[in-house]
Amino acid sequence: MAIEKIFVAGAGLMGSGIAQVCAQAGYDVTLQDMANGILNKSLEKIRWSVDKLVEKGKLAEKTDAIMDRLRITTELDAGSADFVFEAIVEKMDVKQALFAELDRICPANTILASNTSAIPITQLAAATQRPANVCGTHFFSPVPMMRAVEIVKGPATAAETVETADRLCQSMGKETIRVNMDVAGIVLNRINFPSTIEAIRLVEAGVASVADIDKGMRLGFGRPMGPFETADMVGLDIGYHAYLAVYEETRDPKFSPPMLLQRKIMLGQLGRKTGIGWYRYDSDGRKLAPAD
Ligand SMILES: NC(=O)c1ccc[n+]([C@@H]2O[C@H](COP(=O)([O-])OP(=O)(O)OC[C@H]3O[C@@H](n4cnc5c(N)ncnc54)[C@H](O)[C@@H]3O)[C@@H](O)[C@H]2O)c1
Repeated sequence: MAIEKIFVAGAGLMGSGIAQVCAQAGYDVTLQDMANGILNKSLEKIRWSVDKLVEKGKLAEKTDAIMDRLRITTELDAGSADFVFEAIVEKMDVKQALFAELDRICPANTILASNTSAIPITQLAAATQRPANVCGTHFFSPVPMMRAVEIVKGPATAAETVETADRLCQSMGKETIRVNMDVAGIVLNRINFPSTIEAIRLVEAGVASVADIDKGMRLGFGRPMGPFETADMVGLDIGYHAYLAVYEETRDPKFSPPMLLQRKIMLGQLGRKTGIGWYRYDSDGRKLAPAD
C-alpha cells in the first residue's frame, strides 16, 4: 500500500519527533493534539531541530520546505490519512478511546500504529473493527537522532500491515526491528527497564547517588547517557506508566515501579519537561545539579 498522507496524534516529545521525521522524508503530515499552545510549542521545537540538521548538512532541503509539509490541528481530522501514528499519553482507556474514534473516521484501509512502550497492541486493536490494520511502531527518543524502530505484530495484525509499517519507517531513515508478539514493554524496554528500576532502588537504599550511577553507566558501559539522565528526558511519568503496564502483565517484581519514583511523580517532578526530575534544569533545558 502506498503511503502519502500521515496523521500523527499527540504532539508531545514523541509525536513531535515522529511528525518531524515524516516531513523530512517528504510525507504530508498532520500533527494533532488537544490545544493550540501544545501544537505551537511543538512546531517551534521541530523547526529548531530541523534548522540544526540543515546547518549540519544532514538534510538536502531548506527548513521552510520541510516545515511546509507539516500542518497542525486540534481536530481529529484523520479522514484522508493513509497511515496514523498514535503518540498520546500512555493510558489504556485514553488510547482505546482514540483508536475507536480513529476507526470510525478513517478509511477502511488506513493503518493505525501505536508508539506505545508497554500497552499490548491487541488491546488497542480490540477497540477497532480493523485489528488486521493495527500494529506497533515503537520509536526511541530523541526520534530524529535514534534510528531504531520496533515494528510490533499483534496476533491479529496482517503481514501486509507489518510490511507497510516497516517500509514506511525505513523510508524515514530508520532501521527496523521486527517483534513477532505484542508483549508489554516490547523487546528493547523489556531488557532495559529492570536496569533502570534497579538503579532507582540503589539510590532509594542510599547505596549510590544519582549523579554517580549516571557517571558510572556512561564511563563504565559507554552509554551516551546514564539511566537518570535518560529518565529525565523520557519523562518520569511516562517511565512509571510503562513499568506499571509491564508489571501488570507479567506480575514480575523486577518491573514494579519503586516507591521513590512514585513520590517524585506525586510532587510533579517529571523530568526535563517540568524543569525538575532526577536533576534540575534551567529555563533553556540545560542540566544543573541533581534534584535531591
Ligand atoms: N518519552 C519517550 O521516550 C517514549 C519513547 C518511546 C515511546 N513512548 C510512548 O510514546 C507515547 C507518547 O509519549 P511522549 O513521551 O511523547 O508523551 P508526552 O507527554 O510528551 O506527549 C503526549 C501528548 O499527547 C497529548 N494527548 C493526550 N491525550 C490526547 C488525545 N486524546 N488526543 C490527542 N493528544 C492527546 C498530550 O496533550 C501530550 O501533548 C506514549 O505512549 C509513550 O509510552 C515514549
